[in-house]
Amino acid sequence: MSTTKLPVLFFVTFFTLSSAQNAADLPAIEQGLHEYFRTGQPSAEFLALLERNQLPHVLRDESEHVYDKPSTCQLCNMVIDAVILERRLNISRETLVKEALLLCTHLNIEPERVCQGVIDLNLDVFLYVIDNYANFTSERVCGSVLQSYGCSAGDAYEWSVTIPSGNSQDRPKPNDTEVPSFTILQLSDVHYDPDYTPNGNAVCGEPLCCQSDQGEPASPEETCGYWTDYRAADSPWHLVEETVRQAKRQDFDYVYYTGDITSHRIWETSIEMNTYAITKLYSFFKDQFDVPVFPIFGNHEPHPLNLWPSDTVDDAFGMKWLFELAAQHWSDLIGEDVSETVLKGGYYSVSPRPGFRIIGINSNICYTNNWWLTYEDVDPYNQLQWLADTLKEAEDNNESVHILSHVPSGLGSCLKVWNREYSRIVERFAYTITGQFNGHTHKDEFRVYYNGSDPNQAIGVAYNGASVTPISNSNPSFKYYSVDESTFNLLDYEEWYFNLTLANSLGEGAPVEWKQLYSFVESYGAANLLPSEVDKVLYKMTEDHSLLDNYFLYKFRNGDTGTKGGCDDNCKRNLLCNIVTTEFGDNDQCNRFLALYDA
Ligand SMILES: *[C@@H]1O[C@H](CO)[C@@H](O)[C@H](O)[C@H]1NC(C)=O
Ligand SMILES: *[C@@H]1O[C@H](CO)[C@@H](O)[C@H](O)[C@H]1NC(C)=O
Ligand SMILES: *[C@@H]1O[C@H](CO)[C@@H](O)[C@H](O)[C@H]1NC(C)=O
Ligand SMILES: *[C@@H]1O[C@H](CO)[C@@H](O)[C@H](O)[C@H]1NC(C)=O
Ligand SMILES: *[C@@H]1O[C@H](CO)[C@@H](O)[C@H](O)[C@H]1NC(C)=O
Ligand SMILES: *[C@@H]1O[C@H](CO)[C@@H](O)[C@H](O)[C@H]1NC(C)=O
Ligand SMILES: [Zn+2]
Ligand SMILES: [Zn+2]
Repeated sequence: MSTTKLPVLFFVTFFTLSSAQNAADLPAIEQGLHEYFRTGQPSAEFLALLERNQLPHVLRDESEHVYDKPSTCQLCNMVIDAVILERRLNISRETLVKEALLLCTHLNIEPERVCQGVIDLNLDVFLYVIDNYANFTSERVCGSVLQSYGCSAGDAYEWSVTIPSGNSQDRPKPNDTEVPSFTILQLSDVHYDPDYTPNGNAVCGEPLCCQSDQGEPASPEETCGYWTDYRAADSPWHLVEETVRQAKRQDFDYVYYTGDITSHRIWETSIEMNTYAITKLYSFFKDQFDVPVFPIFGNHEPHPLNLWPSDTVDDAFGMKWLFELAAQHWSDLIGEDVSETVLKGGYYSVSPRPGFRIIGINSNICYTNNWWLTYEDVDPYNQLQWLADTLKEAEDNNESVHILSHVPSGLGSCLKVWNREYSRIVERFAYTITGQFNGHTHKDEFRVYYNGSDPNQAIGVAYNGASVTPISNSNPSFKYYSVDESTFNLLDYEEWYFNLTLANSLGEGAPVEWKQLYSFVESYGAANLLPSEVDKVLYKMTEDHSLLDNYFLYKFRNGDTGTKGGCDDNCKRNLLCNIVTTEFGDNDQCNRFLALYDA
């Protein structure tokens, strides 16, 4: 996750325009904006209007749908067109920075240094795109960044991969939980914060708190704990060590690390700092685990955050440093040279034992905060075509495949066309893929894929590794999966966590009380983790709504702040819909399950 759907350029303004508490302010704000762009001088009236319509933290992820208004897309187009025009008139970078900063601070979207940092880090990408894309239109921006508002992208973002012909053939399945199995440890979203400051300020107003330069806490309640903090904090190194120490108390055969290594201090990333955190974590894994570790990228590994330029883009923007860093460490951790495809785009395919294949993909490119999509969106890095072709080879060799992918399908923040093509691939290779593993949301959750031609048939499940970082409101956690040794289907998983409130109250030196939160099979009364079994659990949830209360508690790993309000009827309906939505905007399964829930 990035708590940081932050203001880049002028995205901020249409939020103001569309959410102005006083609709009568709208024309005046729009006029003030145009005037400001033209003269470079904000009028006192314009500033007063902005301050009357503040949008604190509006661009952080949790706020995704709060400002949903039909006029949003129109306003987005208006603002972006104005920026394109400005740039075409050779307005200087300094002026654009000044304008963006004024909007960001006067709307109170983030504190000034966060606004400044994020604008500095992102602006040049937009300028590059405008300067190098002759026919660039606002629709390309609004249609991707705001796809969750239904903004039109014109005829952009429409492409497809070639799906290999043939059908997925059904395969042997585990018929007993006692079959020989091996174990996989999934760790996700560590978000290591080298600047984490125990006893620091936990209520800081910035996207990441408990930093050494955020002053003293105003009261004992606002003090950061020793281990980390529910409010807006990442993992100190001692939490990373503690988690690995605990995970190693059981045996496992492989480790899946599903991405996100650096902290949420996203206004101040650098190649140096990212390299430091990435190297430290991978080296620690290498040192601690005597089994292969299969890592993938999260959206937090690049500098600047989220951005994945293609090789046709100017070298200055390149992520070559990151691909080279990963190629070396991953090959080392996996125990096999994966550099060829990692250097192409951060993906790989390896077979750690006969009949079994692990494919790591870089789904972060589909994240709509990856502004490079506005420049080039057609199957970036040729990755999905490669995925389809690689699965075809696996099918021909009778291999079973686990796919590791940071960003889950179905999010409003994953580019729709990419998500659709990914789903087509999942459906075509339904029986070859015996497991999908996600990160990014920091939540313990799963998503079920259904057959497009037979809505009653569940054909796949993607499990989320939750996170080590508590952002937001969760207890640190990890998972063990047991895997059928002959079919490579998943038999069960266990989620482990500790109570952060309790651990912090005991403080440094006291042992951390880790606990098994639940096992899927036991908690939901399932035979195993086959899609058909998980589907049965969903039917049970529609009848026995208390199962959704459990799902809700598990989601936050019993985190005291996350679970505080409980889960009312509306919350339960949302949980159910999230589980069955694997393509954003396709609500058929959601509606089908809600009808059962209401029956
Ligand atoms: C902007 O600058 C470019 C390159 O310096 C120049 O070719 C172009 O005519 C300028 N456009 C305007 C509108 O001044
Ligand atoms: C840009 O638009 C012009 C005029 O509509 C068209 O001729 C040209 O092919 C377009 N260029 C690209 C790269 O789409
Ligand atoms: C389970 O499957 C194995 C091999 O696929 C087979 O030998 C065995 O008889 C099956 N057991 C049951 C109880 O069906
Ligand atoms: C895959 O399995 C099929 C059916 O069991 C068999 O005919 C084929 O030879 C196998 N192929 C390989 C490469 O093992
Ligand atoms: C999906 O349903 C269609 C129509 O019933 C069927 O032909 C196809 O085999 C199913 N796909 C899978 C993966 O089972
Ligand atoms: C976590 O520990 C705190 C402090 O002991 C306690 O108040 C709280 O109820 C615990 N939370 C859960 C979910 O058990
Ligand atoms: Zn994350
Ligand atoms: Zn992420």
